[in-house]
Amino acid sequence: MKQRVIAVVLTCLLVLLMVSGCTGTTTGFAPAGSSENKKLVVGTNAEFPPFEYIDDNGKPDGFDMALIKAIGEKMGKEVDIQNMEFDSLVSSIGTKIDLAIAGMTVTEERQNTVDFSDPYYTAVQYVILPADSEIATYEDLSGKAIGVQLGTTGDFDASDIEEADSSTKVSRYNKGVDAVNDLLNGKVDCVIIDKNPAETFVSKHAEELVAVDGSQFGFEEESYAIAMPKGDKELVDAVNKALQEIKSEGTFDKLVEEYIGN
Ligand code: ARG
Repeated sequence: MKQRVIAVVLTCLLVLLMVSGCTGTTTGFAPAGSSENKKLVVGTNAEFPPFEYIDDNGKPDGFDMALIKAIGEKMGKEVDIQNMEFDSLVSSIGTKIDLAIAGMTVTEERQNTVDFSDPYYTAVQYVILPADSEIATYEDLSGKAIGVQLGTTGDFDASDIEEADSSTKVSRYNKGVDAVNDLLNGKVDCVIIDKNPAETFVSKHAEELVAVDGSQFGFEEESYAIAMPKGDKELVDAVNKALQEIKSEGTFDKLVEEYIGN
């Protein structure tokens, strides 16, 4: 009897060991730093045109996607793009993904958990308004219904306004486009989102909406960079070196022209 119990316990342990040994390979994730690893697992949130969006074939495309493929090529790695919610990106770095490229702004808070590449793009929050809106200043945003994408710097700006005046109502969406749709439906009074996506979304509703430069509201300039595991100097250096080459060869400017324009 005792022997049978021991046998069962040992079998269970063996099965457990086998299963746990397998999980690493089932996700296909192994840290990029390991030199034999030819794959670069890239996280993004393809809801942010022109930086990332799903193309007509259902694949992630956009400026960031083209840039990271060029960087991967320089590093001799095959790029595997994983589309996920923006709010999950930072916490997935180093476990589910090697790095994230998602029009992600460098913030002090994020720098507590990840390291960033050299910045590659300058942006600012924009305020999308109905064409006939009377909102024109930062003070005007107080007490309004504001739509944002969850976990973005637009969300942080709106949260500041909400904190100062609790009659402000912030609606947080997983996709920026859903915030814009609720603006069109009259469910929110404005949407705070980065400049280029704001302009892209508004261009599809030019009669009803306007995109106002957030510097008019006092929003500060932001820098986009690639986020990587904290302390992975080897990866950060390799990405920065590739980025530098892509810039000096003129490829970077070509991609800006192709995907973003002026
Ligand atoms: N720049 C903003 C931020 O870092 C918004 C980025 C949203 N990006 C996206 N792919 N949805 O918070």
